[in-house]
Amino acid sequence: MNKIVKKKNKQSTRKGRQLDPMSLAEVQKLLEEMPRKKDLLIEGLHLIQDKYHYLSAKHLVALAHEFKLSTAEVFEVATFYHHFDVIKESDSNDGDNKPPPPITVRVCDSVSCEISGAKKLLDTLKKLSLAVPDSGEPVRIQSVPCIGRCQHAPVAVVGKNPVDYATADIVKQKVKEKAVIPKIPKYTGLDEYISSGGYNLFQDCISEKKTPEEVINELKNSGLRGLGGAGFPAGAKWEIVKKFPAPRLLAVNIDEGEPGTFKDRYYIETDPHRFLEGSLIASWAVGIDEIYLYLRDEYAAGHEILRNEIQKLEAFFKDHLCRIHLRRGAGAYICGEESAMIESIEGKRGIPRLRPPYVAEVGLFGRPTLEHNMETLHWVRDIVEKGAESFSKHGRRGRKGLRSFSVSGRINKPGVHLAPAGISILELIDEYCNGMQPGHKFYGYFPGGASGGILPASLGDAPLDFDTLQDYGCFIGSAAVIVFSEQDAARDLALNAMRFFEHESCGQCTPCRSGTSKAIPLMKKNKWDKNLLEELSITMEDASICGLGQAAPNPLRSVIKYFPQEV
Ligand SMILES: Cc1cc2nc3c(=O)[nH]c(=O)nc-3n(C[C@H](O)[C@H](O)[C@H](O)COP(=O)(O)O)c2cc1C
Ligand code: SF4
Ligand code: FES
Repeated sequence: MNKIVKKKNKQSTRKGRQLDPMSLAEVQKLLEEMPRKKDLLIEGLHLIQDKYHYLSAKHLVALAHEFKLSTAEVFEVATFYHHFDVIKESDSNDGDNKPPPPITVRVCDSVSCEISGAKKLLDTLKKLSLAVPDSGEPVRIQSVPCIGRCQHAPVAVVGKNPVDYATADIVKQKVKEKAVIPKIPKYTGLDEYISSGGYNLFQDCISEKKTPEEVINELKNSGLRGLGGAGFPAGAKWEIVKKFPAPRLLAVNIDEGEPGTFKDRYYIETDPHRFLEGSLIASWAVGIDEIYLYLRDEYAAGHEILRNEIQKLEAFFKDHLCRIHLRRGAGAYICGEESAMIESIEGKRGIPRLRPPYVAEVGLFGRPTLEHNMETLHWVRDIVEKGAESFSKHGRRGRKGLRSFSVSGRINKPGVHLAPAGISILELIDEYCNGMQPGHKFYGYFPGGASGGILPASLGDAPLDFDTLQDYGCFIGSAAVIVFSEQDAARDLALNAMRFFEHESCGQCTPCRSGTSKAIPLMKKNKWDKNLLEELSITMEDASICGLGQAAPNPLRSVIKYFPQEV
């Protein structure tokens, strides 16, 4: 009898947050048939965030219960990602615990948008005190890093609806209309793609008209290099992964968070099947079972396009297709780093792994993984169909191939410009961008997004390609070129980049976490302490675990080297 009483008491004093039956029912309804597998945790969090605009403690406890995970683990993952609003007690109305209103307006404050007046837009919107129609709650206004629409700067997002060339009046109107869903742009769908010869090459592959060796050789001869930033030769990567024992996986990187980069969005929103066919061919050639696509959350239209087109593709090819999983990021630039992306696909915080082992050997779910930027796969069909030379014959100054430059800033024609590798910025501005904007004189440029450093106009002849800018302390990365003029200050833009890195550092290692936050006050000073900043830069470069911390000092070092008059 005594024993029973003791047990009862123990139960009634269970520690931690208790499971709330109503919240559990709500979560179960949202999850429906979704398998309760740990790697789907972030998808589960998205379902709750989409429905309620925030994640209450009660819902997180219920989600943990459903996924058979500890509540701490679910909180840990949810709080890592910027797009999840974790509210500790859903019934609390004070301070930080207050649930956000149903509409949030996000204003991009990264380099290209800053150049185009993002700060003023943000200030004006804050003063307008916009209200959510019907409820009258104040709309939440947030500044956010680059959302991959830099050619339309300044850019805001109302709910999930991007507003290009945003003004306070346009944003106000969108809020009033509750226009929170993105428009789907016109793109080449499955039927149109097939009618122009699409998937013929894939059919030839699976019907053994081609051999994997032939395809891999063609890629190698074309000189195609990874277009996500590091530029590793694609054909060689396929061979490396193929040597590791099956089962193998393909992870496609569509996280595109580098400020200034928007080429992947452009290709998804115009011709999504080209990289899907490239992915299927890669999987066939390398002997891969399943494909995981990791798409950044900001690309809501892209998500809709891919969801629909993958469904159509599955219906068309039936049993001949390997399984394609579509996963959404949740607002974390670091998840573009390949090992962090893999962690995120596994349903965890996006924290880069220590290497070795490399993901080619031990990648997603511990399996050998071919990891590619989506644009690398976009070129596979053309190269194999038209021959390696069709790609390699392009190029200037001895460089080979084509690059999709995302060009933004003070030029007349920003956008994705497909140009020969090795082109100079002066040629790019002149031949592809219709020159500088009226009243603006070319002063400098970021050759590779926020992390690729900054070059002055006097180095306007440097060939833009992999391996050509290292001597200048810069790199081309994802070919995101931001052009600025004498009306801009390189030091302000470098500070903007450093703020971005501080915001996006995953915090795993001290040189990056502390280095980025210590650099900011130093860079705000009128006169920079150059020795101290250089010391900090060396520490970050040498002792950070991943490319984020290693590249974070590039813009500030460029300012010291090429724009000394400013600091
Ligand atoms: C901080 C950081 C962010 C990155 N972001 C992206 C990204 O958004 N998209 C991408 O494809 N690669 C990104 N990369 C590069 C990937 O780690 C990896 O090199 C690339 O996806 C390989 O694919 P590829 O061989 O096709 O280029 C990033 C790297 C770092 C260090
Ligand atoms: S360098 Fe920065 S982003 Fe990379 S692992 Fe370290 S703390 Fe994280
Ligand atoms: S969308 Fe603003 S900088 Fe890219």
